[in-house]
Amino acid sequence: MTPRDLTPSSIAVSVGRPHEPGDPLSAPITLASALVPGGAADYARAGNPVWAPLEQVVGELEKGQALAFASGIAASSAVFSLVASGSRVVAPHHGYYGTAKQLTSRPDLDVKLVDVSDTGATIEAMSGAALVWLESPTNPALEVADLPTLIGAAHDAGALVAVDNTFNSPLRAQPLELGADIVTHSASKLLAGHSDVILGLTVTRDPDLYERLRAHRHDHGAIPGALESWLTTRGIRTLHVRLDRAEQNARELVERLRESTLVDEIRYPGFGTIVGIVLDDPHRAQRATEASSLVRYATSLGGVESTWERRRRHANEAPTIPAGLIRLSVGIEDVDDLWTDIEAALGA
Ligand SMILES: Cc1ncc(COP(=O)(O)O)c(C=O)c1O
Repeated sequence: MTPRDLTPSSIAVSVGRPHEPGDPLSAPITLASALVPGGAADYARAGNPVWAPLEQVVGELEKGQALAFASGIAASSAVFSLVASGSRVVAPHHGYYGTAKQLTSRPDLDVKLVDVSDTGATIEAMSGAALVWLESPTNPALEVADLPTLIGAAHDAGALVAVDNTFNSPLRAQPLELGADIVTHSASKLLAGHSDVILGLTVTRDPDLYERLRAHRHDHGAIPGALESWLTTRGIRTLHVRLDRAEQNARELVERLRESTLVDEIRYPGFGTIVGIVLDDPHRAQRATEASSLVRYATSLGGVESTWERRRRHANEAPTIPAGLIRLSVGIEDVDDLWTDIEAALGA
């Protein structure tokens, strides 16, 4: 069977494994700065064999050609390097603030931050744009964008479209199949999945874009570490199982939270592992996040362990995000244990 015959679960488990007699089933970590000349690369900033299984499996999952980067931010940086000075870039106003900051800190760009769940307003902002950057659901507002419509409209406007697929993972959305030019990931989240890695990826089907992104990675040294690459590949082997379980937990917790009088609003798009819990009183929200024990008070998301934090505790978070919004990243623990912990912390 070729990877094209396989379902995503089987791709996650099997693609990128060595095949030669005597090879280990799991490709080894290659610690190298230089390689014997004559292969794909002779200096490890140009290529390391440990990147290959990772790029193969993510490429198959997203249905394109993947490149691994030092972080999600390094991957978005490579995408933004494609845009010439003076260009208009459209991006979500409630998406990951680190990405928005990369754009707004470039005075040479005309950056329009929009509510990507408002399809009409987003399309209006696309006029003359060189790049439309989408995130759906957004982090942390959990706004959902109409990706097929927005991708089509962006192409009509002559813009490139990049989609940060971190929150969905390729198991819940495949934006290249919807026509996007580039997909990016913070693999630090669901893909690696154990809160022990910082790594990013781009995926594209366009050979010219692939080459420009690859050149940017090489020339800026935005390369992933060998251990991080190996850990991310290993994390992806269980992505489907972790995601199914965490999503099941998230749905159950959302039901219980919606019945609870301890919260003022619940945001959940109906899928995924991230839940927004809004308390009108931000001090109460802060206290709750610090009062839990099984749910760890920590930033980041997508790990096997549940974490939560009040997003506005970060000075750079958008001021239009409610001060009492807690972003809960649901893990794979027992759901009753999670509920006991969350209910007690919210009542603290
Ligand atoms: C949606 C999203 N995209 C990109 C990033 C940046 O990724 P990294 O932290 O791996 O650089 C993050 C980090 O939180 C994120 O949540």
